[in-house]
Amino acid sequence: MITDTLNNFIHNIPKAELHVHIEGTFEPELLFEIAQRNNIQIKHKSAEELKNAYNFNNLQEFLDIYYEGADVLLHEQDFYDLTFAYLQKCQSENIVHTEIFFDPQTHTQRGVSFKTLITGINKALIDGFKKWGITSRLIPNFLRHLSEEDAIKMFKEALEFRELITGFGLDSSELGHPPAKFKKVFQMVGEEGFLRVAHAGEEGPAQNVSDSLRLLKVSRIDHGVRSVDDKLLLKELVEKQIPLTVCPLSNLKLKVVKEMKDLPLQILLDHNILATINSDDPAYFGGYLNENYRAVAETFKWSEAEILTLAENSFKASFLANEDKNKWLGELRNNGYRSFANGVSKITIGQ
Ligand code: HPA
Ligand code: ZN
Repeated sequence: MITDTLNNFIHNIPKAELHVHIEGTFEPELLFEIAQRNNIQIKHKSAEELKNAYNFNNLQEFLDIYYEGADVLLHEQDFYDLTFAYLQKCQSENIVHTEIFFDPQTHTQRGVSFKTLITGINKALIDGFKKWGITSRLIPNFLRHLSEEDAIKMFKEALEFRELITGFGLDSSELGHPPAKFKKVFQMVGEEGFLRVAHAGEEGPAQNVSDSLRLLKVSRIDHGVRSVDDKLLLKELVEKQIPLTVCPLSNLKLKVVKEMKDLPLQILLDHNILATINSDDPAYFGGYLNENYRAVAETFKWSEAEILTLAENSFKASFLANEDKNKWLGELRNNGYRSFANGVSKITIGQ
């Protein structure tokens, strides 16, 4: 258990989330509601029964259930509701900025248009900003179990909505689908002026992290926990300040690590690597962002100082404009979070 003071600190401190799949925020209750209104029969009888199926031995077992859940999303309103529900969570957890992944191919291959899904998501983002001031970025991901040709097709469809898109990423089954498979499409992404990220070093080896940097020219790595197996790679991550978006509860649930204490988070922080904490697919992994912060604080016996560093990292590693990054970093400094974290004063925070 962590102290109430640390718990409050985690809750109150403004944070950015940089690794969350919108389809992974699909709570069973909402999933059932949308399935019903779309007249779609699902295998499980109730939200409770569905939740009980959330036991995974690896990434693939999770992906099978996750794609099945996403299949009930058909209309713009469905994507709106899904996104708005996540933004409500952001508001309740003091997540002030979020960079959201979505998997267009999961939907377009079922006949849902790119326009339908991105319009629904974007309308919710606009409302979330108007209502709570939450800022966001959208990052479509290529599904690595599909072909590069398929990825290029999605990329071309996405170009019509380019003003809504910040960058492109790569997700789904890492094993058997190395970064090299997507070299061409990532080059096209770069040539069109988008940022690039990729899931790597989650189930796959550190080599996938190196290859994502070299072949795909990504500026941020999603997960990347296996990077610690390669000393030279760690050095490169520090020197180039390449952020890692680590997802602790996800890694535990998908058995990337046996126990939370096996996550190399302390090593990453000790090396001054820009590690960040994220929720990945919170509806499936048992916790949103603050739950992830609480879990690592408890496991690594961290205090406010480490939590503050991680919150600072979340803004430094974000795709916000420098001006906005500095605004949030200034807020963390000026509101006394640092002095509180250092034990200098006992001021009330988050007021
Ligand atoms: N890894 C790969 N693909 C994914 C994940 C993940 O953790 N979550 C959703 N798609
Ligand atoms: Zn992910």
